[in-house]
Amino acid sequence: MLSIDEMFKFCKKKGFVFPNSEIYGGLAGFFDFGPLGVEIINNIKQSWWSVFVQSRDDVVGIDGSIIANPKVWQASGHVDGFEDVLVECKKCHERFRADLLIEDVLKIQADGLKAPAIDKLIEENNIKCQKCKGELDKASRFNLMFNTHLGPKASEDSVAYLRPETAQLIFANFRSVTDVSRLKLPFGIAQVGKAFRNEISPRNFLFRCREFEQMEIEYFIRPKQKCSFVKSVEDYKILIYSANMQENKSKPSEMSMKEALSKKVIKSDWHAYWLASCHKWFIDLGVNPKNLRARQHKKDELAHYSSDCWDLEYHFPFGWKELEGIADRSDFDLQQHAKHSKKDMAIFDEETKKKVVPHVVAEPSLGVGRAFLVFLYDAYTDDKKRDNVVLKLNPKLAPLNVSVFPLLSNKPELLKMAQEIYSSLKTCYKASFDKSGSIGKRYARNDEIGTPYCVTVDFDSLENDDVTIRDRDTTEQKRIKVKDLNNVLYQLLTGMIAFKDVK
Ligand code: GAP
Repeated sequence: MLSIDEMFKFCKKKGFVFPNSEIYGGLAGFFDFGPLGVEIINNIKQSWWSVFVQSRDDVVGIDGSIIANPKVWQASGHVDGFEDVLVECKKCHERFRADLLIEDVLKIQADGLKAPAIDKLIEENNIKCQKCKGELDKASRFNLMFNTHLGPKASEDSVAYLRPETAQLIFANFRSVTDVSRLKLPFGIAQVGKAFRNEISPRNFLFRCREFEQMEIEYFIRPKQKCSFVKSVEDYKILIYSANMQENKSKPSEMSMKEALSKKVIKSDWHAYWLASCHKWFIDLGVNPKNLRARQHKKDELAHYSSDCWDLEYHFPFGWKELEGIADRSDFDLQQHAKHSKKDMAIFDEETKKKVVPHVVAEPSLGVGRAFLVFLYDAYTDDKKRDNVVLKLNPKLAPLNVSVFPLLSNKPELLKMAQEIYSSLKTCYKASFDKSGSIGKRYARNDEIGTPYCVTVDFDSLENDDVTIRDRDTTEQKRIKVKDLNNVLYQLLTGMIAFKDVK
């Protein structure tokens, strides 16, 4: 597996991701997506939106603004409590995020540890500054909110915050959305958008940034409402790592949702349903199930309002790490906003004929950048036979659908026919036209960026009005009539047929 630095180099070389403001030395924790990278992240977001919003009757979307009335963030608890624990070196003044420092040095899970526990571990294990070996100061709390000022006069009253998650906009808009959407419990509200956190130690490329995108759903139920969808995932299997397994130092175990629920490893049918649905989205887009597991938060990791939380974790080169969180947030957020705004957050429940403040039974929350890394890691194949990297991305995620080549670039009749085919395909697909270098180099270039199909016009094409179509993953080629090309591509790209079935 590529190290995260090697993955960063690969992404930069292929025009997927660039360090932000590189000409001025860059800026830690900020990245820019390049011409092909932006296609991939748009495909990721489009697939997520289509599966979790557009194809469901019970989920609607919103697009809230990045800056909101600061009272939103006071009510949610972010202004006072969205903090990480920080330790500073007394000698060189380097600052470390304390839990990551502990994890690096002691190789234990330290997420959620409070300052006194961190101080104790640092003292007991004689942990020093990782930069200069100097003595570390006492741990302190550091708020991750990015501040800005509204209007021309910066004062205490003009402070506003860049949102650290998209979720709160869903709660702040809850009444507006339910007033206009005729939603019946259970239902979800989804949002995709930027979030900003002043991370103490941004690192591991897109894994931990200061600016990133989230895809989130708040899924609301009436308290104790049963999950009517759980049957659809009963036989779905996931590698499970419960809090008990972690405490007993036992290994994660593959279980169906039915087994996990009957053994009470997963307590809520809603959690089983959302875990399976989120896991399946990754698997359907080509991620190897061996690289994904569901890890339950231990008691000391849980937020005070959360009764249960599971993370989908991916086996990154730097260990099993959180990819997506699926938390039970109860009615905490709606009650907080009701209290602070003095607005009623209760809605009329048609089934019980009573007003109810719904509970968020699951909040699937996924970073677009982390999803991008996962898809790239799972697709990256160092093909020794081809002596080339092949990016076996699911065609739905690949930056290009198809590339069109003339076999030889100095033959006007081949160029003309290839140009015509390209012009027609690009009205329906993300297509490119490539005539530079040998045909082998053109195939290799497209394999590296994940183009699933390449179409070549050769001398037989002039006679027979057909072309070769080449499959990225197998390198197999077939001849098809030009008149069938559009239809065949559509069937291949949507997964209706496999390449072996192309006639
Ligand atoms: N609304 C809940 C929430 O924001 P979170 O666990 O803090 O929960 C959810 O974040 C997801 O957002 C994470 O699982 C991860 O995919 C992504 N994420 C969080 N912080 C990030 C960061 N600094 N850089 C990149 N992605 C991040």
